Formats: sequence, structure tokens, C-alpha cells
Amino acid sequence: MRRSFALRLMAPLRAILLAIAFPLAFAISPRLGPTRRAVTPIVKATTSYGNLNNGDLNRDSCTSTLWSGGNVLWTCRDTQLLTNGVPGFTLVANTASWSTIPSATQPAVLTLNSPEPFGTFFYLMESDECPTSGECSDGTRWVGWPNTGPAVVYNFDGGVNAYGFMQRQHLSGLTVLNSPSTTLYHVLQTTVDTSVMPSVSVDVSQFWSADQIGYGSACTVVQGSYAYLYGATPSGQLAVARSTLTEFLGALDSKNTYEYYVNGEWTTTAPANNAAGIALENTSDVQGTIYYSNKWESFVWIGGDGFPDANFYISTAPAAEGPWTAGQLFYSGAVGNGSLPAYSAVAHPALTDGTGDYIFITWTLTLDTNPTGSGPVYQQPLVRVDWE
Ligand SMILES: *[C@@H]1O[C@H](CO)[C@@H](O)[C@H](O)[C@H]1NC(C)=O
Ligand SMILES: *[C@@H]1O[C@H](CO)[C@@H](O)[C@H](O)[C@H]1NC(C)=O
Repeated sequence: MRRSFALRLMAPLRAILLAIAFPLAFAISPRLGPTRRAVTPIVKATTSYGNLNNGDLNRDSCTSTLWSGGNVLWTCRDTQLLTNGVPGFTLVANTASWSTIPSATQPAVLTLNSPEPFGTFFYLMESDECPTSGECSDGTRWVGWPNTGPAVVYNFDGGVNAYGFMQRQHLSGLTVLNSPSTTLYHVLQTTVDTSVMPSVSVDVSQFWSADQIGYGSACTVVQGSYAYLYGATPSGQLAVARSTLTEFLGALDSKNTYEYYVNGEWTTTAPANNAAGIALENTSDVQGTIYYSNKWESFVWIGGDGFPDANFYISTAPAAEGPWTAGQLFYSGAVGNGSLPAYSAVAHPALTDGTGDYIFITWTLTLDTNPTGSGPVYQQPLVRVDWE
């Protein structure tokens, strides 16, 4: 008796509550629908881990990739040998190192170990890119500057299979002379061994042509059964493609596994880089990192606003293709006194425990301390950011 009376009373109440709640949910979040809530990242604390220890290497723009066995693969840009703190004149456009995963509670300087002698490239220049240095006799330069680490698509018994997408940029100073195509490199280690670097080879030269987006060259994230691959659009935003990991060891070198996000849907035809409807709203091609946060059940972009700052922005999306929230400033790092004071604001999900409760960030700052003319000295501060 009492129970049915209570139910009778509650039924209209429930109807009223639903009537209030549903239009509210749609009004607040019309595109996300009632099951998606917008994520608002709030910083709880930031902790300095000093500068990355690169040993006797002077280099910038390092990014990280989780390898197996608790190891982290780092890929960096222009690298010089330091002698008594002074950079030499020989430039190597990209180099790689190993580190461990830092403690989430005890801040300490993180050391990047480089088993190979100075001078070894990670991604070799191709035969038409003024090999081996990339520096041409006319003073121009081909660079292989990675924006992001290789995408790990398959971990097997002690080994790792990964792919790196490299834009083929031809520079005069810092001016890009060409419309870059993008080469796919295969990065493989059949048995994880940090006394050597993985083997790296050109898998498909110019996998993306000069009039296509360099998918995978800006950011990559492997989530579920897909590798999501982001590239810069001519408008300075990001476009995304995805590849199902169904080829041998999740290989990314067959276009049969690819789809492209165009005009709000996934399609199997690769668009031209000037096609309408490929740029994702609220994204930026300034160097950054995309990862999946288990805490927020969201894709997360963390990146900067470019020269000359070390301002860090965060943006989230319920799916890899968006909708992305407008970037929120959450941290401003120190800048140097070099001519390019700071840049390469990136995040390092590979250095975390995967909970999403915290993230590590680094940036590059340049110091004008070198009178020899071989350029600035680089520092890369490492900071842990804990989220509310
Ligand atoms: C994208 O950013 C604009 C502001 O620039 C904002 O009005 C819009 O809501 C953002 N999109 C999402 C999904 O948050
Ligand atoms: C730049 O900063 C470094 C480190 O603080 C300092 O040693 C150097 O003298 C500065 N250079 C100039 C030109 O001010």
C-alpha cells in the first residue's frame, strides 16, 4: 500500500524532473548530447623536475613515446655536441634517446641516454634530400624535424612495432621553400634493448604527396583499434585520418586501412590539402601532443602558441575528430634570452602511469651564452602538472 502510494507520488515528480533535466542537458551541450559532459581541466599543482639531462648533446623539441619494458623513446630535433658547454658547428637534424619513467611523487632530473655516437640520425635523409646531413651546397637545407614520436601500433613478445611520419621540408634559413610531402618511416625493435636504438628505415617514400595533408606528422594517438593521425592544414589547424590496426603487426603502410575525416564524416578517399571541410574547429597546428585521458574519458590536446612563448593550452574532445573545446591557457613557462626565446610546448603521456591524474610537459628555451656563432644553448624544463 505505502509503496504504491509513494510510487504514485513519485511518478509526476519524476516527470517534472525529466522535463526540467532533458531540455537543460540539450541546452547546455547541444552537440555532445545528454551522455557527454564537457571536461574542464583544472590544475591542482605544478612541480618542477629541473631540465632534461641530455648529457653532452645540445638539442631542442624532444618528444616521447612509450616503448615496452618501462622504457621511453625520445626523438629530438637539431642536435649538436657540447664541449665544455659550447655547441659544435655540426648539426644532426634528428636524434633519439632512451629514458625511464620518472617518479610521480619524487621530483628528480630525468636523464636521456644516447647509446649511439654523436652524428647518428634517427630518421635518415632520403637520396634527394642532400644526404647525409641534409645540408645542400647552395646553402639550403632539408630537415627531418619530428613534431611527435613514432606511433606504436603493436607490442609483441618483447618487441615493438612503430611508424613515424616525417614532412620533407626544404628550408632557406627558417623559410620553407617547398610544399612538403611526407615520408613514412618504419621503426622496429624485435627485442627491446636500450643499449641500441630501434632500427629505422624508409617504409614508403612520400606516402602523402605534396598536395595532401601530412597525416601523422603533427600528432598521433593509438586508441581502441585505430591509430589516429593528425596533420597540419594550410589554415594552420589540424585534419585527422585514422587507420584500423588490421594489417600485419598493425602496419600503417597500406592505404586500404585508412579513412579521412571530411565534412563531419569518415570517408575512404583522401582529400586534397586545400579541400573544404577537413580543418577541425578549435585545433592548432602549433607543435603539441594529443593523447587519450582515462580520467576524463576524452582525447586531450596540449600545445603552445608558438614563438616566442612557453604558454601551454589544453583542449579536449569526446572523440578523436572532435568537437574540440577552445584551448585554455593552463601554464606559462620561463623563456630564454636567445633570438627564439621559447617554443615546442609539448606533453608526455608516456611518462605517466596512464591514470590521467597528472601529465608531464616540456618546452624548449634558448640561451644566448655562446660567442662562437654555433647558436644558442638549449634547455628543456620538465614539469609535472597534477589535475583536480
Ligand atoms: C570552439 O571554440 C569557440 C570559441 O572560439 C567556442 O564558441 C565553441 O564552443 C568551441 N567548441 C566547442 C566544442 O567547445
Ligand atoms: C642569457 O642568459 C644566460 C643565462 O642566464 C646568461 O648567462 C647570458 O649572459 C645571457 N646572455 C645575454 C646576451 O644576456
